[in-house]
Amino acid sequence: MRQIFNGVYKINGKLATENLAPGFRVYDEKLIRQKGEEYRIWDPLRSKLAAAIENGLKEFPLNRNSNVLYLGASSGTTASHIADICSNGLVYCIESSKRMMRELIPVTMKKTNMIPILADARRPREYFSKIGRVEVIYQDVAQPNQAEILLRNSEEFQPGNAMFAIKARSIDSIRKPKDIFREEIDKLKERFQILQIIDLNPYDKDHVLVNLKAK
Ligand SMILES: C[S@@+](CC[C@H](N)C(=O)[O-])C[C@H]1O[C@@H](n2cnc3c(N)ncnc32)[C@H](O)[C@@H]1O
Repeated sequence: MRQIFNGVYKINGKLATENLAPGFRVYDEKLIRQKGEEYRIWDPLRSKLAAAIENGLKEFPLNRNSNVLYLGASSGTTASHIADICSNGLVYCIESSKRMMRELIPVTMKKTNMIPILADARRPREYFSKIGRVEVIYQDVAQPNQAEILLRNSEEFQPGNAMFAIKARSIDSIRKPKDIFREEIDKLKERFQILQIIDLNPYDKDHVLVNLKAK
């Protein structure tokens, strides 16, 4: 086993995080015991952050104490690994679908540093009062105006870093993904320095993860 980033390990060639709720699985991931601790294998086919790490992410903004605003938490696959990594921090999980929220809530009952919030990420003012200081925004919402959503939330929460998954097909299913990515990223340049743009192929087609640092 070797550590590759704060709280992120490689075990037998596979990514893993230390399980904050030993014995509990979020999405049928494999659990492995090493040196008296339990680790969860982190599947890059199920998580864009894991795919970005496998594809060469260089700077990792998360650590044990980070508080994270997670936009588009779905049933908690990636958010639960972030909760493992940020074990002394809080992961505020914004999700607008009631169906996904029903799956997310049992996860947050086990991973007690995950806070589920049923809300629309396009309207951060509606959840601003429920959330404390956050150092990082992680965004993965399938919406046409993805960059605007990140900018609106960054204005409210003033994070030092952001990780932004862009799904070209949610913005336009006809135009070239490369052009869409460039346009979305250009919108962020005033507020953020672009640290890295990571193509998520072959794990996710027509997706990039953009690693950002506030200016
Ligand atoms: C691609 S999935 C996220 C997968 C998740 N990030 C993971 O890796 O485990 C996108 C999620 O964004 C949610 N979503 C879409 N529009 C949203 C909005 N305006 N506000 C909050 N969540 C939204 C969807 O319901 C869906 O669960």
